[in-house]
Amino acid sequence: MKFLAALVSLSLAVNYVSADVPIEGVTALTVVPGQFIVEVDTSSHIPGKRSTDAPHAHVLRHLTERGVNFNVGHEYNTPGILVGAAITLKNASDAKALQESPGIVAIRPVMLIPAPDPVEVHVISGLGDPNLPNDTQSTHVLTGVDKLHAEGRFGEGIKIGIIDTGVDYTHPSLGGGFGPGFKIAGGYDFVGDAYEAGSTPQPDNDPLDQCNGHGTRVAGIIGADPGNIFNISGVAYKSTLTAYKVFGCIGSVGDDIVVAALLRGVADKQDILTLSLGAPSAWSTTTTSVVASRVAASGIIVTVAAGNNGASGGWYTTGPGNGVDVIAVASIDNTYLQLQTASVQGVQHDPIPYHQLWSLGISGEFPIYATSTNTSVVDDACGPLPDSTPDLSDYVTIVRAGSCTLDWKAAQVATKGANIVLFYDDGLTGFVKINIGNYNASMIQAADGEWLVSQFVANTNITLSFPDASTPVAYPVGGLISYFSSYGPTNDKYFKPAVAAPGGNIPSTYPLPMGTWAVLSGTSMATPFIAGSAALLLEAKGRTTGVALRAQHIRNNGADAPGLVDVYKSIYTETTVSPGELLLNDTAYYRKTQSFTVKNTGKSIKTYTISHVPAGTALTIPSNSIQPAAGPVPLSTAYANVQLSTTGFLLLPGESRQVTAFITPPAARRKTRTSPTYLGLAAALKDAPIFDNTQAIYPRIHGVTGPQNFTFNSYDYPILEYRLSFGTALLRIDLVDPNITLTTTLNPSSVAERGSVLDEPIFTFPHGKPNTFAQVSIIGALTELDYFPRDLDLGYTGITLGLELGLRIQRSGNMGPIAFCYGH
Ligand SMILES: *[C@@H]1O[C@H](CO)[C@@H](O)[C@H](O)[C@H]1NC(C)=O
Ligand SMILES: *[C@@H]1O[C@H](CO)[C@@H](O)[C@H](O)[C@H]1NC(C)=O
Ligand SMILES: *[C@@H]1O[C@H](CO)[C@@H](O)[C@H](O)[C@H]1NC(C)=O
Ligand SMILES: *[C@@H]1O[C@H](CO)[C@@H](O)[C@H](O)[C@H]1NC(C)=O
Ligand SMILES: *[C@@H]1O[C@H](CO)[C@@H](O)[C@H](O)[C@H]1NC(C)=O
Ligand SMILES: *[C@@H]1O[C@H](CO)[C@@H](O)[C@H](O)[C@H]1NC(C)=O
Ligand SMILES: *[C@@H]1O[C@H](CO)[C@@H](O)[C@H](O)[C@H]1NC(C)=O
Ligand SMILES: *[C@@H]1O[C@H](CO)[C@@H](O)[C@H](O)[C@H]1NC(C)=O
Ligand SMILES: *[C@@H]1O[C@H](CO)[C@@H](O)[C@H](O)[C@H]1NC(C)=O
Repeated sequence: MKFLAALVSLSLAVNYVSADVPIEGVTALTVVPGQFIVEVDTSSHIPGKRSTDAPHAHVLRHLTERGVNFNVGHEYNTPGILVGAAITLKNASDAKALQESPGIVAIRPVMLIPAPDPVEVHVISGLGDPNLPNDTQSTHVLTGVDKLHAEGRFGEGIKIGIIDTGVDYTHPSLGGGFGPGFKIAGGYDFVGDAYEAGSTPQPDNDPLDQCNGHGTRVAGIIGADPGNIFNISGVAYKSTLTAYKVFGCIGSVGDDIVVAALLRGVADKQDILTLSLGAPSAWSTTTTSVVASRVAASGIIVTVAAGNNGASGGWYTTGPGNGVDVIAVASIDNTYLQLQTASVQGVQHDPIPYHQLWSLGISGEFPIYATSTNTSVVDDACGPLPDSTPDLSDYVTIVRAGSCTLDWKAAQVATKGANIVLFYDDGLTGFVKINIGNYNASMIQAADGEWLVSQFVANTNITLSFPDASTPVAYPVGGLISYFSSYGPTNDKYFKPAVAAPGGNIPSTYPLPMGTWAVLSGTSMATPFIAGSAALLLEAKGRTTGVALRAQHIRNNGADAPGLVDVYKSIYTETTVSPGELLLNDTAYYRKTQSFTVKNTGKSIKTYTISHVPAGTALTIPSNSIQPAAGPVPLSTAYANVQLSTTGFLLLPGESRQVTAFITPPAARRKTRTSPTYLGLAAALKDAPIFDNTQAIYPRIHGVTGPQNFTFNSYDYPILEYRLSFGTALLRIDLVDPNITLTTTLNPSSVAERGSVLDEPIFTFPHGKPNTFAQVSIIGALTELDYFPRDLDLGYTGITLGLELGLRIQRSGNMGPIAFCYGH
């Protein structure tokens, strides 16, 4: 088995909360103040519960008796998955009354799930559109879907529910209609087009999407009928689709609504539910993750996008994809890119591809000017150009990327009149699409740039022109993990994501008023691909067999990544290995001994060889830092040591055998052609510093440098600002006397051992119990945040405090680099 490490690149995203606008209530970024999803015990012995009651009626009665002012939103009654209600408290101090209600299993804050946001969208203009990839089926070829289509398998009879922005069912390739007998056989709009988080949902029975487009693209990847002018077809285009619309035209949605949609999918007896949505949490414990996991455990296949935060490094996957039993989906790039080319006049030379979907659209032939004749120069055009530089307005200016930003370089050459700039890759920037404001600029490959400079040096007087000349270019990282695809694992060490599908540069259906077809990228596109693949599997194997999607090996700069789905082999494999992944946890909770069962499901005797092939380890936290490295996550050659209980055996048809592996970190397990994947952390996560104090800025009270009074009126509240360098299972903020000398006494294990993660009650308000915390006397608890994600890069969190100053925050000690290794 090889160790794997996902590959990712590009700029850092910044999660920034403006400190100038106080955040209302005791809350962090994505939590809706005062709104909770309350899960109740369904057994009958609850005090105050009557047999004729709705399951949560006793909670509401308790609140009414205590004089609590509250609203009830969605009510959930799916025994075995979720029974309870979404409750809004008008007054934060009533949280205690809610907490003290009888028969409560869990209280979780309502969180916002942001509007789905594709990485890139290009609307195809028509058949003549030069940007149309000429091999629209390349994604099917990559994954074996083409072979299943050739066998006549299209997912017929399988029901798939799409929880998204709705679907434009008027699209001719999506059946052109809505209701029984149509491809989009049903659905529900939970919110209405005008909905944005915070507004009142206006539900109706019509999930039409003609203003957003996201759900329409998702539907096409599963279900687009062939025979359209673009030769695009869905992975399982004879499956029956239901559209659960949970977003308005723009904006985010409360997860109480996503939960309602999941339960509706259960009630409608969907075989598969697919969600190309999520919010970063990196814990398996948020409401949507918990509920989606329970839905999956009940027998419905649940596929969820892993997220597009690859640039932010490890430990940053999204919920509901973090749910233990759901399939979280990573993205790989399509193998072809449609790029424009510049023609060369003066010497015989192939057109030069530049990274642009559309032609630069400039007519004329232009001589070239290179700002440096040295093709190793590290800071080309980072400073003012020499006085000897001619007026560049009639040239194509050639500049090497690197050192300073491309925008900065463009500004330098513009001072000499340059109108058209081609940047060539310096090996670090990459051959990527760039966008430099209102400027004719594009990226070319290093070799092309070096050739152009050599022509400039030789004074060959070549010219370049920019006709509308699109060409399919084999995409250098096609078939590999997309740069944007989020890294796992979760903070509780679940292996997310574990399967990948094509999600970069994918053509699909688009709402008729918005252009009919589009090319787009994101794990949102990979997710329905897996949903469709699962439909082919259920069709072939029957609904009762359970699904094990097989992954093939993806290469990534020498290391590997979550496996690319191979649907054909998933169906025709004659060996199963279960479980499909081995979770080693971290060194504090290490599970050294792992076992898996190999079963021969074929009709002939088979001989198995079991061995271990070490691969890569990802260094998710650099040794000089307390926070996770940005993507691409650096790799190390440190390997785990694996001892196996057997080196091989023979299995008769139908026979199975258990294999035990003893794994010593940091390292990995052997890959056979069918193999479980394993993941473990070579450090104790509970020792990770949570509060970033390295910048000597945080934590701080915004704008406060000495004693200060607050009136607690209007905006006159103290705001605590902090950066979490790592996600935390528990963050408490207590008020202590300013005179107290505080030393850290918190025993981290008392936090980690609070019980089973899934059943742990989650509160976002103080438990309000003792006068001490970790033996430090406190005046009172201000707030508590449970299972929160880390802050990103330069971001921080601000929370408004309802009490006086005198705040101290617990910190824990240092630790070495954290590595996690995973493999298959
Ligand atoms: C909230 O409840 C507290 C305690 O019962 C009370 O003092 C306060 O007036 C209430 N605030 C509002 C706005 O009702
Ligand atoms: C796309 O079209 C070009 C030119 O017609 C051809 O050379 C190329 O092989 C095609 N690509 C694929 C993937 O079929
Ligand atoms: C669609 O596919 C058919 C058969 O493979 C082919 O003949 C036709 O040229 C394709 N059309 C386009 C627009 O690629
Ligand atoms: C080209 O630039 C590199 C990097 O700055 C430098 O090391 C090298 O000496 C330069 N070559 C010439 C010929 O100036
Ligand atoms: C692009 O270059 C052409 C030709 O020099 C020029 O006319 C045009 O203004 C340029 N466009 C921009 C946006 O700079
Ligand atoms: C390029 O043009 C310059 C100036 O007109 C001329 O001196 C030179 O010979 C030309 N080079 C070639 C290779 O034609
Ligand atoms: C790792 O151990 C912790 C502490 O027992 C537990 O909460 C967590 O669920 C475990 N993770 C996995 C993947 O088993
Ligand atoms: C805070 O208010 C008290 C009471 O009015 C006053 O004595 C004290 O000087 C104030 N402190 C500051 C820093 O303004
Ligand atoms: C804190 O210390 C100051 C100065 O030493 C003293 O005046 C004050 O009473 C102390 N506060 C408490 C609550 O002990």
